Amino acid sequence: MNNTSLLLLPLLLLLLGLNNNLETSSAADAATDGQFVYTGFAGSNLTLDGLATVTPAGLLQLTNGTGGLKAHAFHPDPLRFRDLLVAAGGSNVHSFSVSFVFAILSIYPNLSSHGMAFFVSSSKNLSAAAPRGYLGLFSNESDGDVTNHLFAVELDTIQNTDFLDINNNHVGVDINSIRSVKSYPTGYYDDGDNGNLKNLTLNSHKPMQVWIDYDQETTRINITVAPIEISRPKRPLGSVIFNLSTVLTDSAYVGFSSSTGDIDSQYYVLGWSFGMNRAAPTIDISKLPKLPREGPKSPSKVMEITLPIATALFVLAVGVIILHLLRRRSRYAELREDWEVEFGPHRFSYKDLFDATQGFKKKHLLGSGGFGSVYSGVLKPSKMEVAVKRISHESKQGLAKLYDHGVDPQTTHVVGTMGYLAPELARTGKASPLTDVFAFGAFLLEVTCGRRPVEHSRKDNRVMLVDWVLEHWHKGLLTKAIDTRLQGEFDADEACLVLKLGLLCSHPVPQARPSMRQAMQYLDGDMKLPELMPANLSFGMQAMMSNEGFDSYVISYPSSSTVSHGTFVSGLSGGR
Ligand SMILES: *[C@@H]1O[C@H](CO)[C@@H](O)[C@H](O)[C@H]1NC(C)=O
Ligand SMILES: *[C@@H]1O[C@H](CO)[C@@H](O)[C@H](O)[C@H]1NC(C)=O
Ligand SMILES: *[C@@H]1O[C@H](CO)[C@@H](O)[C@H](O)[C@H]1NC(C)=O
Ligand SMILES: *[C@@H]1O[C@H](CO)[C@@H](O)[C@H](O)[C@H]1NC(C)=O
Ligand SMILES: *[C@@H]1O[C@H](CO)[C@@H](O)[C@H](O)[C@H]1NC(C)=O
Ligand SMILES: *[C@@H]1O[C@H](CO)[C@@H](O)[C@H](O)[C@H]1NC(C)=O
Ligand SMILES: *[C@@H]1O[C@H](CO)[C@@H](O)[C@H](O)[C@H]1NC(C)=O
Ligand SMILES: *[C@@H]1O[C@H](CO)[C@@H](O)[C@H](O)[C@H]1NC(C)=O
Repeated sequence: MNNTSLLLLPLLLLLLGLNNNLETSSAADAATDGQFVYTGFAGSNLTLDGLATVTPAGLLQLTNGTGGLKAHAFHPDPLRFRDLLVAAGGSNVHSFSVSFVFAILSIYPNLSSHGMAFFVSSSKNLSAAAPRGYLGLFSNESDGDVTNHLFAVELDTIQNTDFLDINNNHVGVDINSIRSVKSYPTGYYDDGDNGNLKNLTLNSHKPMQVWIDYDQETTRINITVAPIEISRPKRPLGSVIFNLSTVLTDSAYVGFSSSTGDIDSQYYVLGWSFGMNRAAPTIDISKLPKLPREGPKSPSKVMEITLPIATALFVLAVGVIILHLLRRRSRYAELREDWEVEFGPHRFSYKDLFDATQGFKKKHLLGSGGFGSVYSGVLKPSKMEVAVKRISHESKQGLAKLYDHGVDPQTTHVVGTMGYLAPELARTGKASPLTDVFAFGAFLLEVTCGRRPVEHSRKDNRVMLVDWVLEHWHKGLLTKAIDTRLQGEFDADEACLVLKLGLLCSHPVPQARPSMRQAMQYLDGDMKLPELMPANLSFGMQAMMSNEGFDSYVISYPSSSTVSHGTFVSGLSGGR
């Protein structure tokens, strides 16, 4: 033996001893041997925070529909992602494999906020992370910080242009930042169909399975998604090379995160498995808990109470304004027009409103704002206050409910509802007073014209009411847009004012809309509506292009409407 080996021998023995000690301690802080499977979560010991709960049926419910909050659920014990010793192959993060089954349930078919993620984090304390677009993983301050030591696979249902999202239905790989390293429109390569890519909708109310595989040697991360009824596709949806050894801490927690915006959305995990240095155990799909039954029979208690109230209040408020304006000085007896009768049993008659508010007496005026003046009468004030607070949120659902009646649910239901959703709401999931103004504008036009905001014409073309009214205006025939069922029994100036105001409120660019207060002043005649002209196209185009939000509107609503909106921008920008 030479000198070198004599020196190395004790060192080697020391290393082996140390290694044994480490094995013991790693077994202690990672109680599982780096592998687990949850077939449902009943009786599990997940660490939950925020909105997250495990339902009696055993579903992990990340969010429950309450807006603007976040949720986390962790496997209770940390996992050892690498050995500490270089000699034992340390410094490199182990290969690992994850699989889980999730489902997203939102009140709107193509709109859910904001998304969810599987993630690996050095800490269980994400109290500083922000909800909404940050998915409860990052915040304005922490985004992009390498000390986050956070790897996530996001299932994102909102296109947030600030975060460079590709669409509102994508799977993204996030490293220390909500701006994904790489993202993919959700889909899968169908083995049974020559490996063709099939699109999937995350927010489909249907359970889907995700597989995430990381390989230590190649540092490749594969992501695969598929509906649960099909077996795992051979080809992953996405594949990213990123050395997670540079990201993850030696010991880290695995879990799920989700956050809500303004749209009532529920994010569920049904089953979950993990394998360190091996494939994640197969989840027995047949043993997973069932998603809650959907449909009108199972609304939550809160919805049961607030939805009818909010709907009633909304119809009440709008009905009061419109009818009050159209026949300002008349008694209700003269106001029972034919067209009111035709609106069917889900509308309040003017008489009901008149009786309930004792002729719209000032003392019954609870307040103005939101969708206009709100009167008390049919309801108790305490419930009323609650309802008024929720009105801007619930009224959208109220409208959706209203439109269940008399609309073919297979085809036009979504479109009918969409007519009330401001383009920026569809894009960002963020409701604001200006999105309410948009819905109010759609409602003004609808009531005055007696037509739905979006109708299907021959050849399945969508006709936007806004376009239709604008077209009449262009031709100088604005009064022809007014509901013929009124049989000329209205003040033409007032009706045109309502139409123009409806158009102004329906403007695709939020900043071009008036505030609700201004809208009220225009309606009451306290303020003169700016002189609007449906002309001057070139200036309009310029205004349109200079607003970045407009492009997304064109993309999400590829109908003729946007062009004539461009025309419209001109008159408005001059007026404001
Ligand atoms: C959702 O959970 C939060 C927090 O646990 C709770 O305050 C809220 O009432 C729940 N909402 C519903 C609709 O259950
Ligand atoms: C649940 O996990 C916590 C740590 O998050 C631990 O303190 C507790 O003992 C665990 N309970 C059971 C029943 O495993
Ligand atoms: C929802 O979006 C998907 C694509 O993301 C599309 O194929 C589908 O037609 C949309 N559904 C409705 C009702 O708009
Ligand atoms: C979690 O982190 C925040 C700061 O981000 C800190 O204020 C808080 O004390 C931490 N909570 C726990 C339980 O460690
Ligand atoms: C986010 O942080 C940047 C600077 O880091 C700041 O300019 C910006 O105002 C912040 N935004 C919000 C919404 O806090
Ligand atoms: C699938 O989605 C992509 C964009 O996400 C779209 O370009 C393509 O047309 C869709 N394919 C089908 C068959 O709907
Ligand atoms: C990722 O997918 C590719 C292509 O199917 C495959 O060759 C590779 O082995 C996969 N890697 C992992 C870590 O699953
Ligand atoms: C990954 O990063 C670690 C730590 O920086 C490094 O030791 C290792 O060689 C890298 N692996 C690959 C495949 O580049």
